[in-house]
Amino acid sequence: MAEYSPKDLLATLEAAQTGERDPRTCEIVNRIVADLFRTIEELNVQPAEFWAAVKWLNQLGAAQQVGLATAGLGFDRLLDILADQADERAGLATGTPRAIEGPLYVTNAPLSDYEARLDDGTDVGETLVMDGVVYGADGKPLANAIVDVWHADSKGGYSHFDPTQSEFNLRRRLRTDAQGRYRFRSLVPSGYGVPPGSPTEQILDRLGRHGQRPAHIHFLVTGEGQRPLTTQINIPGDAYLQDDFAFATRDGLIVELDPTDRTDDVASLGVTGKHTRVHFDFHLQPA
Ligand code: DHB
Ligand code: FE
Repeated sequence: MAEYSPKDLLATLEAAQTGERDPRTCEIVNRIVADLFRTIEELNVQPAEFWAAVKWLNQLGAAQQVGLATAGLGFDRLLDILADQADERAGLATGTPRAIEGPLYVTNAPLSDYEARLDDGTDVGETLVMDGVVYGADGKPLANAIVDVWHADSKGGYSHFDPTQSEFNLRRRLRTDAQGRYRFRSLVPSGYGVPPGSPTEQILDRLGRHGQRPAHIHFLVTGEGQRPLTTQINIPGDAYLQDDFAFATRDGLIVELDPTDRTDDVASLGVTGKHTRVHFDFHLQPA
C-alpha cells in the first residue's frame, strides 16, 4: 500500500477513474472532493467534527430535507442569480422575475379552467381572491397557459408534506381563458418556518440564524412556446419580508393587498363577505 500525501491521494482517486465514466460527473465530484480535502486540512477539521457532519447529512436525507437546507444555505437563490445573469447576457432580462421553487412543489395538482378555490374550507384566515393575466413573450395575453399555484396553510404547512391536510389542499393548476386570464380563491397565506427540531433547524441554530420565510405564494407558469417561469409573490407587511431565510424576496414580486367587500364579480368562487384582492400579471419569455 502506498504512502500518500493529501495531494497524492487526490491524484490517485482521479487516476482510478479508468472505467466507462461520465466526464461531467468526474469533473464536478473531483472538484468538490478537492475543495473539501482542502477545507479539512486548512481548518484542521477533527475526526469527531467530520463524523458529526456525516451523521447530520444522513439525518437530513432521512428527513427528506436536503432541499430545505440548500434553500437556507443560499444555493437555490444562487442558481436564480446565475440564470438571471445568463438571461442578461442573452438579452432576455425582461418579464416577471424568477424566484426559487423551494422543496415543496408537487406535480399534478387538480386542473381547472380559468378559476378555482384552493383551500378546502377547514383552515382559518382572510379570504383572498387573486387574479391576473398571463402574457406570452410576444406581449399578448396567452390562452391555455397553465398557472400552477401552491402555498402554505395558516400553520405554515404544505399539503402532501403535512399529513394533517387534505390531498392537494392549497394546490391547483388553472388554465387561462381566451383572454389569458386566471383567478383563484384562497386564504391570505401565513409565513413558513422550517420544521422545529429538524436537521435543517439544527444547522441554522448553529449558524445563529432563523428558519423563517415571509408569507408567499408559489407559481409555475407554463404555456406553448414559452419558457416555464417559476416564481413567487410576497405578501407585504410580513416581519420577514426582507429577512427571508431562503433569500428569495425580490423587487417586483411584492404585491399590493386590496381589501374590498365587492362580491358581485366573484359569486362563482362562493365569496360572500369582506375579503382581500390581489392582482398580478405574469410575463413569460420565449422557450
Ligand atoms: C423552504 C420552504 C419554502 O416554503 C420555500 O418556499 C422554500 C424553501 C425550505 O424550507 O427550505
Ligand atoms: Fe414556500
